[in-house]
Order: sequence, then structure tokens, then C-alpha cells
Amino acid sequence: MPHAALDQPSAWVARFLGLVPSGGRILDVAAGGGRHTRLARARGYTATVVDIDVAGLGELRADPDMEILAADLEAGVWPLGERRFAGVIVTNYLHRPLVPLLVAAVADGGALIYETFADGNQAFGKPSNPNFLLKPGELLDAVRGHLTVVAYEHGKIETPRAAVVQRIAAVRAAVGTIPRPSS
Ligand SMILES: C[S@@+](CC[C@H](N)C(=O)[O-])C[C@H]1O[C@@H](n2cnc3c(N)ncnc32)[C@H](O)[C@@H]1O
Repeated sequence: MPHAALDQPSAWVARFLGLVPSGGRILDVAAGGGRHTRLARARGYTATVVDIDVAGLGELRADPDMEILAADLEAGVWPLGERRFAGVIVTNYLHRPLVPLLVAAVADGGALIYETFADGNQAFGKPSNPNFLLKPGELLDAVRGHLTVVAYEHGKIETPRAAVVQRIAAVRAAVGTIPRPSS
């Protein structure tokens, strides 16, 4: 999937990472260069990274608190089995059959933070294939009955480039604490 400006963490992830219980393990799905794993490690979390290509993880590969899995997430076999994580982070990646598994991978008290391109992005470039674009309310539908929504947005953003995105932060708890925008 084409992308831009993937060196800095997503502001959405940075804002809602605090929903993940302190010191817990995050699962960074289709992690790419590991920008969110790097952020999570800096905030005291441990991390499991899964991507079909883990070559871009740089210094993270030498981190003893890291677990790195090279796996094809679209091959029909979920590589994490029944494991549960304090945080599940997904950005700029969508393979629809995985979404229920990602929701299920959130441990009790943990959080799902998901942000990717959405319906309407066709007007701004790629991805334009509907397979890679969330439908209105799709992440809300995915977590309904499983997680409690703390925040949800679907709309146009201007940075790092004009695009339409959908994003959710949800917890496996009755109530999540809303982080301040600057935290
Ligand atoms: C646009 S990048 C997003 C990277 C990261 N989540 C971020 O936002 O910085 C998409 C990532 O999905 C990974 N990916 C694509 N197809 C995959 C597959 N079948 N299995 C596992 N990872 C895959 C790519 O290797 C790439 O790292």
C-alpha cells in the first residue's frame, strides 16, 4: 500500500497509547519500520511486531524486549494463536479477514488503536481500491459488543498529506480514560 511520512508516529496513536496499561506488551501489526513500536518502547511498553518484511526495523532488531515475527498475515493463518496483548496497534494496513482476530487479541483491560485509509480517499490518491478502504462505521461495527469505544473519527485530514482516514481507540473495559490531546 503506498504511503508517505511514515517516520513520525501517528498523532492518533501517540494520543491514545496511554489507554494501554503501563508496562504491558503491545502488538504492532504490519509494523513496517516500527515507528509505533519505537514510541511504545520509549513509553515503557514491551512489543511484539509482525510484518511480512521485518528488514526495516533497524535498531529494534537488537532490543531484547522485542519479539519480531516475520509472517504473511494474508496467508490464512493467524501467527499469534490465542495470545492476548495489552495493546493492539494497526496503522495504514487493512486485510478485512483479520479485523475480528485483532479485536479478539486485545486482553482484558487492554486497548485497540487502529487508523487507516477510508472510503472517500479515492479523491486524494491511493489507496483507492475498496479492499484497502474502511467503510463508514466499519471499525465501530468491528468492536461493537466486544470493546468500549473511547474515540472514533472518519474524515479528511491534511497532514502528512490530504487523505480520508478512519480511526478508533477502544478498550476491553467498561470505561476508558480519555487522554488529553497533548498527552
Ligand atoms: C503502509 S505500511 C504501514 C506500516 C506501519 N503500520 C506504519 O503505519 O508505519 C504497510 C505494511 O504492511 C505490511 N504488509 C503488507 N502485506 C502484508 C502481509 N501480507 N503480511 C504482513 N504484513 C504485510 C508491509 O510490509 C508494510 O510494512
